[in-house]
Amino acid sequence: MRYGYFDDAAREYVIDRVDVPVSMTNYLGTQRMGTVISHSAGGYSWLDSPQHHRITRFRPNGVPMDWPGHYVYLRDDENGKYWSLSWQPTGLPLNEARYEARHGMSYSRFLCDYQGISAEQTLFIPREDGTEDPVEIFDVRIRNNSDRERAISVYGYVEFSFHEIDMDNQNFQMSLYAAGSHYEKDAVLCELHYEPNAWQFFAGNFVPDGFDGVREAFIGAYHTERDPQGVASGRLTGSTELGGNPCGALQKKLTLKPGEEKRVLFYLGTGRGDAAEQARQRYDEAGTDRAFEELRRFWDDKLGQLQVKTPHENMNRSLNIWNFYQSEVNVLFSRFSSFIEVGGRTGLGYRDTAQDAMCIPHAEPDMCMKRICQLLHGQMSQGYGLHLFDPAVLEKTEGDGFKSPTVIPEADKKSMLHGLKDACADDALWLIPAIVENVRESGDLSFFDREIPFADEGKGTVWEHMKAALDFSYSQVGAHGVTKGLRADWNDCLNLGGGESAMVAFLLVWATNHFLDAARALGRKEDEEKYTALKERMEETCREKLWDGKWFLRGFTAAGAPIGSQAAREGKVHMESNTWAVISGAADREQGLSCMDSVDEWLYTPWGLMLNAPSFVTLDDSIGFVTRVYPGVKENGAIFSHPNPWAWVAECMLGRGSRAMKFYDALLPENQNDKMEIRQAEPYSYCQFIMGRDHTAFGRARHPFMTGSSGWAYYAATRYMLGIRPGFGTLTVDPCIPAEWDGFTAVRKWRGAEYRITVRNPEHVEKGIRAIRVDGRETAEIPDFGSGTHDVEVVMGNAGKGE
Ligand code: GLC
Repeated sequence: MRYGYFDDAAREYVIDRVDVPVSMTNYLGTQRMGTVISHSAGGYSWLDSPQHHRITRFRPNGVPMDWPGHYVYLRDDENGKYWSLSWQPTGLPLNEARYEARHGMSYSRFLCDYQGISAEQTLFIPREDGTEDPVEIFDVRIRNNSDRERAISVYGYVEFSFHEIDMDNQNFQMSLYAAGSHYEKDAVLCELHYEPNAWQFFAGNFVPDGFDGVREAFIGAYHTERDPQGVASGRLTGSTELGGNPCGALQKKLTLKPGEEKRVLFYLGTGRGDAAEQARQRYDEAGTDRAFEELRRFWDDKLGQLQVKTPHENMNRSLNIWNFYQSEVNVLFSRFSSFIEVGGRTGLGYRDTAQDAMCIPHAEPDMCMKRICQLLHGQMSQGYGLHLFDPAVLEKTEGDGFKSPTVIPEADKKSMLHGLKDACADDALWLIPAIVENVRESGDLSFFDREIPFADEGKGTVWEHMKAALDFSYSQVGAHGVTKGLRADWNDCLNLGGGESAMVAFLLVWATNHFLDAARALGRKEDEEKYTALKERMEETCREKLWDGKWFLRGFTAAGAPIGSQAAREGKVHMESNTWAVISGAADREQGLSCMDSVDEWLYTPWGLMLNAPSFVTLDDSIGFVTRVYPGVKENGAIFSHPNPWAWVAECMLGRGSRAMKFYDALLPENQNDKMEIRQAEPYSYCQFIMGRDHTAFGRARHPFMTGSSGWAYYAATRYMLGIRPGFGTLTVDPCIPAEWDGFTAVRKWRGAEYRITVRNPEHVEKGIRAIRVDGRETAEIPDFGSGTHDVEVVMGNAGKGE
């Protein structure tokens, strides 16, 4: 069963059955201001931080599921009938009104047809030019399709939030008396009185026929957003109050002749009446059109950095539009603003941010580099990363910011610097490939010599930061010589009780490989030798101590007991150790083939690969918290999406393109568009996890958008399956595809040049290159041209399988 379809030309997902049993969300904003919005216009906005600067309110995990929102209502002033342009909140019977929602690239559009009136509301946030405060625009068009003149009132409505989300949700004895509403220059204002200059506005491109600034006045006692009294009665009351729950409600009365269309604009922004006035001027109808066009161009440019055309339609759709889009949203909003993470935590999760920043440097170089610099600053001089930290706090000097008269628990720098006890063994290791991939993209080798402070004391060059991370990990080894898991490795729930982690050992080898590649590019021989030796020793240890005959162990408990062995009854096979054994190159070929066969045998499902199997059912704290998680849920035997692409990379490294595609296809959201009764989540977004075989809701996906699976899916599919990856001096095109493919084409921009790539597969192999031609000439390597457009033809064959 499906609720919508893909409109690729418009780059939209169209929900034409709006009674979806869950919220299908989208993200607005590409810079400072962000909004997460559902297919029913439910959701909330923030500026810079969803925790410290919330603009509109959301009632998380509530009933109804995604209220309130950024709503527009219409009312027929002759007969008093009213409705919203998104299906909710009024929720008219769908046999009487026709509704559709379209989620596009940083905008969402809600369309409605009712009683001879068709109308639409487009929500988007224009890109600011650096001097303006951001504004969200509600672009509303209303058309009279009936054959008589109509008197229609249009209402825009938002509920404001206190800036500090903790106070907004918990400390009502304060928040209810420190926020108030005003009316100034035809705009409703929300003021946060304790904070200097803390104002929000809601305005229209018109002189309102009515307004309300007090939520209770607009909604009315015993009413809800479904039947707000202000709309039902056709009369807003002109309310404002110092204190209470501020809202922005504006009414505009229109008359529409038969066939006539009118346009009304609403603005939600930061500042007072003057700021509203500026928004009105800047974003009049022509300004709004310009801003929307600019947003389109922004996405044309981003997506245009890599476009592919393969025989696989959903793969094209995903890589050319949705998977990239999701990865970009992750880098921008770094994980803490969704309907699941509702803004109670901000800052950067070390490992998640590093991985996000590794995956899309070709199209988001500035933001990826900004994140990397923040993470470098969030690294302790001992080498490990601060697991969760707020870069703003690290950079903060004493005395800036707003002083609340009540105590708001505030992260201060000292309390953010945690010790070894709270260090996760993988965090800082992810930063090394992230840095190296970004430099491979830009070619800016000088970045390695840039000085950046450590979180606690001193500073070092980026190169020294990388060495600190490696030195730390090579020194943190347990009894078997394998790296310790410390508080946890990538798997938050598999704490190994202080034991040793195979995953970290392999990740360390992989990070070292990236480091060595950079060392060679820089000619840093001494480092090359030192870290090659360390790496080789670790590889040997892994091959010996972690091999269990058919697959690799997941690690050892503190007492030295193996986790993830053939002898175990629960948690026998794990994704992390087996995929990383191959990706790192530490496994020999026989081991690699065998362990990935075990992944296929034990972990494959038609919805993707489970993280481990069978799920743990016996509580065992020496293994970790995972044994306390319900079987088939999250880290205990669910299809945890993030590691799935690791298996695609591993299969590509083994040369098995059909196997990689089998795994890719199972997880691909776009493939599940007609299975929504089971998936119950956006078919255009990877989700954090999908319930596993051991759960009654097997196949149900949860937590869309904010997940590392997105960046990794993009990285694995483009760099390993399609095989297009930049190096320090050359571009590699080394695909691993299903044998039946005749080939594919791609356009990849790199360092100022455009590469028009054609891959041909006349012998129908899965991997191997027979010939490369660049601009018609046979060559061994694809050079860094620096400018111009270049034709690259890659003929697969011969070399056959394997690396
Ligand atoms: C969540 C966390 C991530 C962790 C993963 C597995 O996605 O954000 O950091 O690696 O769970 O536990």
